[in-house]
Amino acid sequence: MVKIKRIGILTAGGDCPGLNAAIRAVSKPAIVKHGIEVIGISSGFLGLIEKDYVQLTADRLSGILTLGGTILGTSREKPFKKKSQYLDEIDKPQVIKENYEELGLDCLVCLGGNGTMKTASKLSKLGLNVIGLPKTIDNDIWGTDTTFGFDSAVSIATEAIDRLHTTANSHRRIMVIEVMGHKAGWIALHSGLAGGGDIILIPEIEYREEAVADFIIKRTEKRPAPTIVVVAEGIRKPAGISAGRYISNVIEGLTQNESRVTVLGYIQRGGTPTATDRIVATRYGTAALRLILDGDFGKMVAMKDDHIQTVDLEEVEGKLHLVPQDHKLVISAKALGTSFGEKER
Ligand code: F6P
Repeated sequence: MVKIKRIGILTAGGDCPGLNAAIRAVSKPAIVKHGIEVIGISSGFLGLIEKDYVQLTADRLSGILTLGGTILGTSREKPFKKKSQYLDEIDKPQVIKENYEELGLDCLVCLGGNGTMKTASKLSKLGLNVIGLPKTIDNDIWGTDTTFGFDSAVSIATEAIDRLHTTANSHRRIMVIEVMGHKAGWIALHSGLAGGGDIILIPEIEYREEAVADFIIKRTEKRPAPTIVVVAEGIRKPAGISAGRYISNVIEGLTQNESRVTVLGYIQRGGTPTATDRIVATRYGTAALRLILDGDFGKMVAMKDDHIQTVDLEEVEGKLHLVPQDHKLVISAKALGTSFGEKER
């Protein structure tokens, strides 16, 4: 087995709470306990193309556990994509390989979402020693029950829904809140259940506009009733309009009730991680270091039934972790009378 002397770590894709906790969990024991040099690569894969990095030290890693964002910076650079924003004239995968070798790296740790795991898998096939750590507020990475960042986003979205309840109650108004999640409905489902949403619309469950309207008409038959509609950004809708605005228009058009829209946006990605995300990020980080020390590369660290396990990066590539239609939270919400905009049976 190769003696690990120097590793690189990068964060790629959209940022999320818990990235710094994970950077710390991989790097601090690597430096302090195992005498491994760790370089922090700036702005995701872009930093590896441009050889932009900083040497991480125990001092630099101190106090970052609770910090939101990423101390390394991030970008959406996808080096294997034919047309991207930067440096299209160069063979980026080849440049990355050369820089990896020039920097004397024994392993590259990639913290990211689906796009990052795909790139990590391709780099692994090019012969680099790569380990992936699943992060995203969307919780949509295949092969793991959870990703860090998700719990923080759910808690922010839940607090927003709580706040909308009091103003909705005061005005007996319909409030539509759009939450993130990309093509998955995990944030909407969890925050919708935790925040007591009356209607939850997610991409995985086909909704009917008439069913959404009928549900509201029934609630407002006698007098206006405060109603909270939690909408995932990825639901079916025409292009050029946000999911929340579209559903609000549908409600107003079909029920003659006025509604207000809140698009929560990037608030969900910012700020300090919850305790749960700090713990998940720390467990993933220490597990990643174990894999590095064991020379077990080409893997993504994952969680299954609260146990750490690993998945081959190649297996993760190109798949999505979506909400099953019979997910236990869906069943529970339906039992409570929450509508998913489906036709009543
Ligand atoms: O993947 C995280 C996420 O915040 C999604 O929920 C959202 O669709 C997307 O990133 C926003 O991307 P960007 O940072 O490129 O605006």
